[in-house]
Amino acid sequence: MNKIVIAVDGYSSSGKSTMARELAHKIGYVYVDSGAMYRAVTLYALRHGLASAESGVYVEGLIRALPLIHISFSVEADGSQHTMLNGEDVEREIRGMEVSGLVSPVAVIPEVRHALVAMQQAYGHDKGIVMDGRDIGTTVFPDAEMKVFVEASPEVRAERRVLELRAKGADVDYDSVIANIRERDRIDTTRAESPLRMAEDAVLLNNDNMTREEQMEWMLNLYKERIADNGCVK
Ligand code: CDP
Repeated sequence: MNKIVIAVDGYSSSGKSTMARELAHKIGYVYVDSGAMYRAVTLYALRHGLASAESGVYVEGLIRALPLIHISFSVEADGSQHTMLNGEDVEREIRGMEVSGLVSPVAVIPEVRHALVAMQQAYGHDKGIVMDGRDIGTTVFPDAEMKVFVEASPEVRAERRVLELRAKGADVDYDSVIANIRERDRIDTTRAESPLRMAEDAVLLNNDNMTREEQMEWMLNLYKERIADNGCVK
């Protein structure tokens, strides 16, 4: 065995996706954004009248539709990864506030979680994978050789998310973004099925005062330690 599984969990907008993606790129691993999969299911529900901002999620209907939802990832010429829903590139749409407002209620549904966790575990079958999310180190890959739990204050996370959305041309205000972050934190940490919590063997990273470069150095050092611990060669 010469590759490991790396699980990166943490709160919404903590920068974990960027870190996980960069690390995977640097070490030649596959990167999987598990949150994008929950977002794609949410978009499907919105488009098919199975969820709306006014009436929430029609749980029975969404469970019945699960076999019709196919999620995959495509790698673009510039190296970026796009989420595909039934063959359509939905990368941009799944990041919008409409999906963000309903994704956590969708992600509490046990049947949705079981379907997506099974897909995520299949991706990790051959190791050499970095996956980020909420339950990767606890439920998806409890035996992952490297587990990181990322946290940052809600204010710092909201500022980062506003900058990210505005850079993509979205018209968002700080108050609605921080309200969404707090609400998702609440739902994600209190749900019955695999709630967001730090795995006992995860390493905590608070990145409130860290630059992107400092975080990457931290991740790479931990990766090298874990590789050495596991007697792996890169
Ligand atoms: O990008 P951001 O940190 O805002 O969130 P995300 O990683 O795209 O995940 C969106 C939502 O999906 C989270 O707030 C969770 O409700 C849910 N999720 C989950 O339940 N389990 C995962 N492994 C990943 C995401």
